[in-house]
Amino acid sequence: MKTIFAVVFLLITSPVCADDSNFSTHLFAKFQVKACTTCHYYFGANRDGLAFNSHKGRSVEMCVVCHQQSVSGFEHPEEWFAQSGLYTSGMDAKETCEATMNALHAKFKSKTLLKKQMEKHLSEDPRVLWGIEGATPKSGSLPSGKKEADLVKGGVNLWKEQVKAWIDGGMKCQ
Ligand code: HEC
Ligand code: HEC
Repeated sequence: MKTIFAVVFLLITSPVCADDSNFSTHLFAKFQVKACTTCHYYFGANRDGLAFNSHKGRSVEMCVVCHQQSVSGFEHPEEWFAQSGLYTSGMDAKETCEATMNALHAKFKSKTLLKKQMEKHLSEDPRVLWGIEGATPKSGSLPSGKKEADLVKGGVNLWKEQVKAWIDGGMKCQ
């Protein structure tokens, strides 16, 4: 009896059983690391730019003065920028996923186009790769020799696998 119980318990809790096609299974936690959300929060009304006052009032044209190529490692340094209306920290899995869909104007696109754009964004966008530990030599790197510590862990290959499983599974927001 005890063994049966243990087996059932293992089956229920084992990650093997988790549905990779659900956003909540792997991606939600990864989308919520600080490396991603701090940037998405940049213009957050309640934060006055960033959490620290020094970023207040910095214009878009100024970003690359500090987040320059040698810092971000971006092929096109001007791609370091922030924008409101994206998913932010504190959202649950469903909200995070739905905000992502909105940012991509999913409602107005065929699934085929959406899938293509989602895959491209999540596996190639320099900002996303910057937020994944080890994805580029400059991932997590900030001006003044600082480093964002809360990056997506587990490596870029696992990330791409998990993104693909979710996209191929129909991009379910659950
Ligand atoms: C340097 C700031 C920055 C970082 C770091 C960043 N993002 Fe973004 N993100 C943006 C901006 C700006 C946009 C909107 C413009 C765009 O679509 O490229 C965006 C848009 C998105 C979108 C919506 C898709 C779209 O094309 O609009 C998703 C999904 C996303 N980011 C995920 C992430 C994830 C996951 C990470 C971390 C692994 C991350 N971002 C890191 C700035 C950033
Ligand atoms: C005068 C230099 C300077 C300018 C201009 C600047 N930054 Fe920064 N930024 C920094 C420094 C330094 C840090 C490291 C954080 C710290 O100081 O603790 C940082 C950190 C950040 C972070 C936090 C990243 C993380 O994951 O922890 C974001 C997001 C960010 N900057 C976005 C921007 C955006 C967007 C712009 C342009 C609108 C910009 N910065 C302009 C110097 C600058």
